[in-house]
Amino acid sequence: DTIEKGGYDHFMLKEIFEQPKTIYDCLRGRLNAEKGSINISGIEDYLDEISNAPRIIIIACGTSWHAGLIAEYIIEETCRIPVEVEYASEFRYRNPIVHKGDMIVAISQSGETADTIVAIEKAKEQGAIIMGIVNVVGSSISRISQTGAYTHAGPEIGVASTKAFTGQLAALMMIAFKIAHHRKTITEERFFHLCEELSFVPEKVERILQMNDEIKAVAETLKDASDTLFLGRGYNFPIALEGALKLKEISYIHAEGYPAAEMKHGPIALVDENLPVIFVATKDVYHEKIISNMQEIKARKGKVIAIINEGDTITPKIADAVIAIPETDEIIAPILNVIPLQLLSYHIGIARGCNVDMPRNLAKSVTVE
Ligand code: G6P
Repeated sequence: DTIEKGGYDHFMLKEIFEQPKTIYDCLRGRLNAEKGSINISGIEDYLDEISNAPRIIIIACGTSWHAGLIAEYIIEETCRIPVEVEYASEFRYRNPIVHKGDMIVAISQSGETADTIVAIEKAKEQGAIIMGIVNVVGSSISRISQTGAYTHAGPEIGVASTKAFTGQLAALMMIAFKIAHHRKTITEERFFHLCEELSFVPEKVERILQMNDEIKAVAETLKDASDTLFLGRGYNFPIALEGALKLKEISYIHAEGYPAAEMKHGPIALVDENLPVIFVATKDVYHEKIISNMQEIKARKGKVIAIINEGDTITPKIADAVIAIPETDEIIAPILNVIPLQLLSYHIGIARGCNVDMPRNLAKSVTVE
């Protein structure tokens, strides 16, 4: 057991720390930043079908669904194809409209989630093309899919998904940029820049992991909370959802993720000196707006923890604590921004004496509905 954990106390921590390598393994042989090219063998034959699809429907559960939500933002922005994101368990029962030629993207670590399998089988019968973004090679979803990409994250043992999620994001980003380039909905310069920024991700993740002690110290200040709120806007909204999911899975602290502006329509009623609010507030077009959301929390005595970029001099003056991480293009930022949230959950879970690798009532793969 100790050998399998490679010297780490838990599989979850080991898997968090593996991410520079697993993301690199996902990009390797596919992304060539020097030439500005992306080649994914599993999608090359379907480039025209994907590019001409009238719409894309992404189907997943849990953390994989959050990867899908980020992909929606990225694909619509770069490829200009309409995207919908569905929970597999809802999609399979609600008689959804699927047209021939629709592209269905199934995202699944295990490739065995029962609801996702049934959902895509039904869509396939209706003439949709199935793309699988799967980690486990040869799994059911990979066999049902006509096109797709493996995430190459290696076996994930921790029940709460970490490295599989960043692998999904890396694969989905490459596919989105490739399709956008093929459809000419982004310029050559933008494509080249995105390829380059993606290639820097493993090294930047490494730098975030070096902040482990600092993140552990922030975790110490949160361990006795009974409720928490995670807020983000744009590409960081799904990261707020994922941060909240991770925390509730690992520490059993009640956590809610919300789009930062939407908090005025409900969650703000919960804010007082006992409610920590974790903002995902790295630099993007929403930056000023999220800072004013932070001020609104502070004005109500809420405690603000913010994930920000290095060099941000304004946010540290407002927040009670900040975690400053390397900057990248705002489209790519989610893959970096989730890392401090994974570590935060891990350390809070440990501080509360929880079994972080095997939280109560959860299963690694939900193979029955
Ligand atoms: C379970 C796991 C999650 C996972 C979800 C979807 O709930 O605990 O970590 O995100 O299933 O699983 P999949 O294998 O389809 O990604």
